[in-house]
Amino acid sequence: MSVLLTGATGFLGCRILRELLARGEEVTVLGRGTPDELRARVDAAVTWLDAPPLSADALAGVRYVSGDLTQPGLGLTPEDRARVTQGLTALWHCAAMIALEAEPAPLHHANVIGTRRVLELADEAPGARVLFVSTAYVAGRRRTGHVMESDLRDGDGFQTLYEESKYTAERLLHTWARNGNRDVTVFRPSLLVTDRPAPEGLPQQSTDVAVRLVGGTLMGDRAAEQSAVRALLAGPRDADTQPLEIRQYRLKGDPEGTLNLLQVDYAARVMVTAAVRAEPTQSVRTLHVTHPENVRLSAVTSALQTRFPGLSLTITPKLTHPTVLEQLLAKHGAPLLTFSAHQRTYDRSNLLAAAGDLPAPAPIEHDYLRRVFAGAEVPLGA
Ligand SMILES: NC(=O)c1ccc[n+]([C@@H]2O[C@H](COP(=O)([O-])OP(=O)(O)OC[C@H]3O[C@@H](n4cnc5c(N)ncnc54)[C@H](OP(=O)(O)O)[C@@H]3O)[C@@H](O)[C@H]2O)c1
Repeated sequence: MSVLLTGATGFLGCRILRELLARGEEVTVLGRGTPDELRARVDAAVTWLDAPPLSADALAGVRYVSGDLTQPGLGLTPEDRARVTQGLTALWHCAAMIALEAEPAPLHHANVIGTRRVLELADEAPGARVLFVSTAYVAGRRRTGHVMESDLRDGDGFQTLYEESKYTAERLLHTWARNGNRDVTVFRPSLLVTDRPAPEGLPQQSTDVAVRLVGGTLMGDRAAEQSAVRALLAGPRDADTQPLEIRQYRLKGDPEGTLNLLQVDYAARVMVTAAVRAEPTQSVRTLHVTHPENVRLSAVTSALQTRFPGLSLTITPKLTHPTVLEQLLAKHGAPLLTFSAHQRTYDRSNLLAAAGDLPAPAPIEHDYLRRVFAGAEVPLGA
C-alpha cells in the first residue's frame, strides 16, 4: 500500500503518520521545505511520540517531497507528480491553515484552492482513495441540536472564516467524488488536545494559544503571575501575610456552553483504523471524530485558572462596560474559547460502525485539562 500524506509536520499529522507506519504502510510525506528539512522535522515529531510502537527502520523508509498548497500544482515538478501518484492507494490530505482570525484570502488559498490542487493530483492517481481531514466546526454557528455526520449546510452561517474554508473544501470534495465516482472519506475532528504537551520546536496544540493569551494579556507583565507563584511557594506563613492578588475578568460567552475535546492520539488512531477498514465506495463518507461527552466551558476556564494563581475568569452572556483588558481578551482570546462553545452534540454512527470496537476515549476531567494547560510555554516578557 502506498500512501501520500500532507500535514505530517503538524500536531495531528505527525500522529497520523505514526499510526500509518505502525501498520506497515509505505508513506510519502508532502510538505513545505526541502526533503531534508521535512525529514528532520518529521523524524523529531514522530520520535517524540511514544506510541504506537514502530519498527527500527519505519521512519527511515518514509519518502519526502517538497510541496506547498498555495503554489500552482502544489509546486510539484512533473517528475514529482509521476513519482508520488504511481501505484498510490491512499491520499491523506491533513494540511491546512488553522487561523481563527486570519484574512479571508490566505485561508481560502490554503484550505480551498489548496484542497482543489490536492484533488487535481488525485486525478492522476485514479486508484487512490482520498481521506480529508476537515473539522466538526463546519457546523458553524449552529448552537444546539444533534449534528449528523451527513449534515453539510451553511444556513446557520460561520463563526470564523477558517470554519467556512473547511466547509467550502468539503463541498468541493462532494462535487469531485460525484463527478469522478471517487472514494472519499471526510474526518471531522473536534478540538484536539493532549495532556503531554510537546517541548518547543515540536508541533503544539491550539489550546496553547489560550494559555499564551491569558498569560500575556490578563496576567500582563508576568510580575503578577510571578509574585503569585512566589506567594504560593513561600508557604502558609508568608502566604498569610501576602495574600494572593485576585484578578477577576469576565469572558463573553454562553455560561451553559460546552466544548467537544478529544485526545489527539485517540483521534489519529481511530481515523487510521477506520480508513484501513473502510469498504471501497464511489462517494463520500463522513465521520465525526468527536468525544462522546462534551465538557462544560466553565470546566475549561476553571482548569485554565489553575495555570495562573490569582486569576478568576467568569463567563457572562453580556459584557457590560468591559475593562481594556477584557476588551483585549474579547478581541483576541474569545475566538478559541467562546467560538468553540456550543450546546450541540455530534452523531458518531459512522465512526462507531468503523471503529466502535476500539475502547472509548477516557473522560476529559479537571486533572486532564489542568495538565493540558500546564505544559504550554508562556514566553518571558509576554
Ligand atoms: N488541532 C485541532 O484541534 C483540529 C481540530 C479539528 C480539525 N483539525 C484539522 O486537522 C488538520 C491538522 O491540524 P493540526 O492541528 O495538525 O494543525 P497544525 O499543527 O497547524 O499543522 C498544520 C499542517 O499543515 C501544513 N501546512 C499549512 N499550510 C501549508 C501549505 N501552504 N502547504 C503545505 N502544508 C501546509 C503545516 O505545515 P508547516 O509545518 O510547514 O507549517 C502542518 O504540517 C487540519 O486540516 C485541521 O483543519 C485540527
